Amino acid sequence: MIAAVERKIEQYIAELKEKDATALYAKLPHGKRLRAKLILKIAGSNLTTIKTAAIVEMIHAASLLHDDVIDDAFVRRGKPALNAIYGNKTAIMFGDVLYSKGFYELNSINTEVSKIISNAVIQLSLGERNDVLLSQSFNCDKSKYLHMIYQKTASLMEASAQAAATLAGKPSEAYRTYGRNLGIAFQMIDDLLDVTQSSQMLGKPAMHDFTEGKTTLPYIYLYEALDEEGQERLLSLHTKAISSNDEVWIRKSMLELGVIQKCTLEAKVLVDEAISLMRDAGENELEEIARSMIDRSF
Ligand code: FPP
Ligand code: MG
Repeated sequence: MIAAVERKIEQYIAELKEKDATALYAKLPHGKRLRAKLILKIAGSNLTTIKTAAIVEMIHAASLLHDDVIDDAFVRRGKPALNAIYGNKTAIMFGDVLYSKGFYELNSINTEVSKIISNAVIQLSLGERNDVLLSQSFNCDKSKYLHMIYQKTASLMEASAQAAATLAGKPSEAYRTYGRNLGIAFQMIDDLLDVTQSSQMLGKPAMHDFTEGKTTLPYIYLYEALDEEGQERLLSLHTKAISSNDEVWIRKSMLELGVIQKCTLEAKVLVDEAISLMRDAGENELEEIARSMIDRSF
């Protein structure tokens, strides 16, 4: 099923009739294609759902090209990021190409789906901006973190599920919540893996978030659980290149203070709620996608 989405994206790129765009697209890792899988599982496979899935994946890929420039990240999914190979300008401009072609094609779906997806892209952009703003200082406010990850990551998953339900003529509210919960849980686990996994496993430098100033959920919980001396040590490391000593201290403290378990449980509660909603709707196949959000190591 997902192969049809890959072919559709390749077709959209070929329609640009620019060798450069085809060559740049060939350099992009495809990733998990979670959003496309979500759409096809909810709405089944036909030309409209394949187009919608392809468009969403192109917008997502564009956002990651920009995100790697913004995050000073040079590795994505174990491969050099496009900005690392060709520089920031090329990464931004190719992101714009993917994004605008996706938007052009979105017009051929229907007005309702176009509105759902384009509104999510507004949220996505606001979320990225809020991520950057929040990283300017140590953020201890969990509600700000949750709102930002909803915007940055969950909005497009929520929109994918809602758009798919709309295309399939299914009542969209439960699917929206399903997509939103999955998105929030996905980002929580992404932020946790940044701390718990090795660079080799992640395919990108580990513990990069905190160096970039991002006080993700594990850091918020760690700060809450530490004594005053520990809190001062953690604050002093914010936005700094972390030494291996400090890396060990952060990981050990998070483990000992139950931070890792707390974050995992929080993501699991969201996924369980999503699964239960889908069971009620008779959509047992959507359980596997939901489980894969939390049972992953990269
Ligand atoms: C990854 O977060 C970033 C996103 C999911 C959203 C990025 C959005 C934009 C750059 C704005 C919209 C732009 C366009 C072209 C539509 P992360 O940095 O936490 O995850 P990572 O570890 O995978 O980099
Ligand atoms: Mg990033």
